[in-house]
Amino acid sequence: MTTQQKIFWLRLVTLVGLCLPAAELAWRWFLDELGARPVTVATHATGDWAVIFLLMSLAMTPLRATLDWMPLVHVRRRIGVAAALYAIAHLLIYVLDQKWNLIVVATEIAKRFYLTIGFVALLALVALAVTSTDGWQKRLKRNWKRLHWLIYPAALLAIVHFFIQSKVKIGEAAFAAGLLAWLLLWRVLPQRLRTSYPGLVLLAIGATLATVVFEAAWYGLVNGIDPMRVLAANIDPELMPRPAQKVLLASVAIIAIVAARRGFLAANRLWTKRYIQRTIPTS
Ligand code: HEM
Repeated sequence: MTTQQKIFWLRLVTLVGLCLPAAELAWRWFLDELGARPVTVATHATGDWAVIFLLMSLAMTPLRATLDWMPLVHVRRRIGVAAALYAIAHLLIYVLDQKWNLIVVATEIAKRFYLTIGFVALLALVALAVTSTDGWQKRLKRNWKRLHWLIYPAALLAIVHFFIQSKVKIGEAAFAAGLLAWLLLWRVLPQRLRTSYPGLVLLAIGATLATVVFEAAWYGLVNGIDPMRVLAANIDPELMPRPAQKVLLASVAIIAIVAARRGFLAANRLWTKRYIQRTIPTS
């Protein structure tokens, strides 16, 4: 398969993957299968997918570098745009929940801190999606990179919004925060460590510890729970899987995928070399 064909198929599969959650949600809503509170279910589902796609779009550059697979660059933009679209749908469903009363919506956003920061994150995501085109990239020149750096504060705000609305069940938010920590730590790692195994091991340890700290700090500061109890929960087999354990598993999965990819590339190179030696006689 040529590189152009690979990019075509990757783009197609990505587009289908990005549309599937929305299609599934719309279909279940249409069939009345979302339970007694469909609007609440839809608000949560669209919020979850916005965060998932936001983290995925941030993961494309590290994955391209560690897996040495260039085509991933060609789907980063559309995953980011999808995150913004799911976040817009999330807001629209919230507006629907407020019976389209925009004054109530604006008052709630101004009054409730978690909605205010969600709104700021949404504004940033929309600005980034609109300016993600080649045209805007040319127009903004060096400022384009500066503007698109906003993705990190936007992701941070989205995760804090996720934490606050989770109230006491912060497991999923802590998991998302751990993954974001992995992505941010990757950015601050020295260049030569970013694609090396020691670098990936450091990231696994760093992101796991960061998740434990987020969880303990949140429960300690917001719910007044002794952080030592939260730390102890992380080694209690009955309470598995904890968010930090899921982050560790995801980080180890990345190392395994990188190892498999490198093994495959090495085997491919060896096979090509042997094939050339066998088929092209040396004079
Ligand atoms: C004006 C902007 C926003 C509004 C009005 C809004 C509103 C809401 C509301 C009402 C909830 C449910 C709270 C509850 O049930 O107690 C929620 C949850 C959530 N929102 Fe937002 N949100 C906004 C922006 C965002 C953005 C930009 C993201 C992500 C990129 C996001 C991600 C989430 C997530 C992940 C949840 C939790 C879903 C779950 O628990 O499964 N929100 N939001």
